[in-house]
Amino acid sequence: MNTAHSGLVKAVIPAAGLGTRFLPATKATPKEMLPVVDKPAIQYVVEEALAAGLTDVLMITGRNKYALEEHFDRNCELEDTLRRKGDYERLSRIEQSADPATLHYVRQGDPRGLGHAVLCAQPHVGDEPFVVLLGDDLIDPRDPLLTRMAEVRQEFGGSVVALMEVDPDQVHLYGCASVRPTADEDVVRITDLVEKPAPGEAPSNHVVIGRYVLDPAVFEVLRTTEPGRGGEIQLTDALRRLAEDETIGGPVHGVVFKGRRYDTGDRGDYLRTIVRLACEREDLGPDFRAWLRQLVAEGS
Ligand code: UTP
Repeated sequence: MNTAHSGLVKAVIPAAGLGTRFLPATKATPKEMLPVVDKPAIQYVVEEALAAGLTDVLMITGRNKYALEEHFDRNCELEDTLRRKGDYERLSRIEQSADPATLHYVRQGDPRGLGHAVLCAQPHVGDEPFVVLLGDDLIDPRDPLLTRMAEVRQEFGGSVVALMEVDPDQVHLYGCASVRPTADEDVVRITDLVEKPAPGEAPSNHVVIGRYVLDPAVFEVLRTTEPGRGGEIQLTDALRRLAEDETIGGPVHGVVFKGRRYDTGDRGDYLRTIVRLACEREDLGPDFRAWLRQLVAEGS
């Protein structure tokens, strides 16, 4: 099952942020290109969009955009070399990338915030609902979140954001939602949103994670959204206006995700992600797990 019957066709992947938490690695390389075991983070995200049945992927890029574009382009010289050597296993690893024809790129110019990055997608997306996947946020393919979000959009219209419940001391790192329950256990109605609330001011422990199904009305709201937290044009602020007044673009609902999510934009989470995924790999896992057990036993 995927999003194929929901009218959703286009995915937008913002990947133009500065990635300052990862400096100096991200000085000349987008953080979305950092490897998670042996694939760049962005490839997992593109594969998730395609697996959900989305057939048109627009990447919002910034400085150093060439690494992203080239990663998803064919490298005929490398393919020929591997073929000549008869190294079909490695050849298959580079042939499994997305069909370059489904990928499109637009440049953000100045990284003026996630809301501004999404606004850059308007000429390509036009007047249809679309999906946003953050390029540094990975959702485990065994937990198909986008499919559920597409169903919720079909049922209620408007926009749908992915939420997770986190410990109260983590809420200040995210956009946070005021929510009302619905008849569906995993779906809530969002009544308000605040970006990175100060400790003690969070309306709940439901935080926004990097998947959105957006009504195109969000573009007009973003156009008039003033810079907010951190001097950036925040997607959360535009969603707040949609949630406050459903005559603009329908209601805003949240799908409360209980599956596996990996944040590769944060150094600690990035390391945990790599260790977890490497342990689960059939090819690398057995040796790696044995080494890890020994490392832990040594008490380092
Ligand atoms: P983050 O806030 O995590 O990204 O944005 P950042 O600003 O690059 O990271 P730090 O905090 O400096 O380390 C979430 C997503 O939105 C994109 C980022 O690339 C990331 O995928 N983004 C953010 C843009 O595309 N443009 C922006 O102006 C800001």
